[in-house]
Amino acid sequence: MVNENIRNAEEHLLHIYNRFPVVLDHGEGVYLYDTEGKQYLDFAAGIGVNGLGYHNTELNDALKAQLDKLCHISNLYYHENSGAAADALAAASGMDKVFFTNSGAEAIEGALKTARKYAWTKKSGRYEVIAMNHSFHGRTVGAVSVTGHREYREPFGPLFPGVHFADYNDLESVKALVSDQTCAIILEPLQGEGGIHPATQEFMEGIRKLCDEQDILMICDEVQCGMGRTGTMFAWQGYGVRPDIMTMAKAIGNGIPVGAFAMMEHVAEQSLKPGDHGTTYGGNPLACMAVRKVLEIFEKERIVEHVNKIAPYLTARLDELTDKKECILERRGRGLMQGLVLTKPFGEVNLRALEEGLLVISAEGNVLRLLPPLIIEEKHVDEMIKKLERALS
Ligand SMILES: Cc1ncc(COP(=O)(O)O)c(C=O)c1O
Repeated sequence: MVNENIRNAEEHLLHIYNRFPVVLDHGEGVYLYDTEGKQYLDFAAGIGVNGLGYHNTELNDALKAQLDKLCHISNLYYHENSGAAADALAAASGMDKVFFTNSGAEAIEGALKTARKYAWTKKSGRYEVIAMNHSFHGRTVGAVSVTGHREYREPFGPLFPGVHFADYNDLESVKALVSDQTCAIILEPLQGEGGIHPATQEFMEGIRKLCDEQDILMICDEVQCGMGRTGTMFAWQGYGVRPDIMTMAKAIGNGIPVGAFAMMEHVAEQSLKPGDHGTTYGGNPLACMAVRKVLEIFEKERIVEHVNKIAPYLTARLDELTDKKECILERRGRGLMQGLVLTKPFGEVNLRALEEGLLVISAEGNVLRLLPPLIIEEKHVDEMIKKLERALS
């Protein structure tokens, strides 16, 4: 049955993802179930999307009601969710102006266009961007241009010009690339795909200072590390270092495709104006209902507080496992965004984890990445540790 499903799925789908041999059917809380009824404990959350887990009835009811009322109208008109969703995101992020997109990569494109337009408005002639080695910002041409993986960029060149790559957490390497052409510095406060590397306090503060001194815009990519995952609503808030522009996606819609880029007033005043940017679907009534409701549930259920309560337990149990298992070299991460550096190939461990009914994902450097729904409890951590221990043996 499962093989039949996979064969059907692969017949006309472009073979571009190395999918795991599982056909998922439905979800409940922090568990997913395949078409044969097997249960999986989900420590991947759709790559950090399903912060509220699965089958959240409050969210689903609001989405169903919105579907029946109005799904799409284009950005030529207002609707009752756009302002409410933007207000909620602005309040949660401390940013002044929000633009809704359909994905993380599209949010990155918007952030880059904003930075370029800011330089254009100020007639500074600046266009260069400093990005980080091992960063990941998405798969569109602009996003790939600032992604610090040669293999993601090279086959698609020539890309967006003027991008230079510095070493993450090495302020001197960033300073060495700054010129009178630099318009923006883009970074993830915690690199996800690149192997779960948190920025140091000094690095975040140093970048902010550099940007202030040189009139460069600081862009934080919060697509993966945002929305409570690291113990603050957005990861930069944990450093007390506010960017000029930030990008969001993934968990802001809990599965409804929606992203956003947001900026401070001084950037908005001197950057994108009507006609400069747009999107047909971005911020439609359904997407904005998702954002509005997700943020409402985050507040009501005190999700960020919960992350701070459960994360030390997860960290302690992972550290225990790291001490116990020779095939784990190191644990890295913050909050509910954790990585284990393995000596065994991830692919092997992952197949064993699937057999055990555990979903995990990989990151660069043979890292086993854990991005559970933010609603996990201690009992789920215990269950994950048991399953993972077996998968690693
Ligand atoms: C940090 C970061 N930025 C951007 C993206 C791209 O987001 P999307 O896949 O929604 O385009 C991702 C996706 O994993 C990401 O992790």
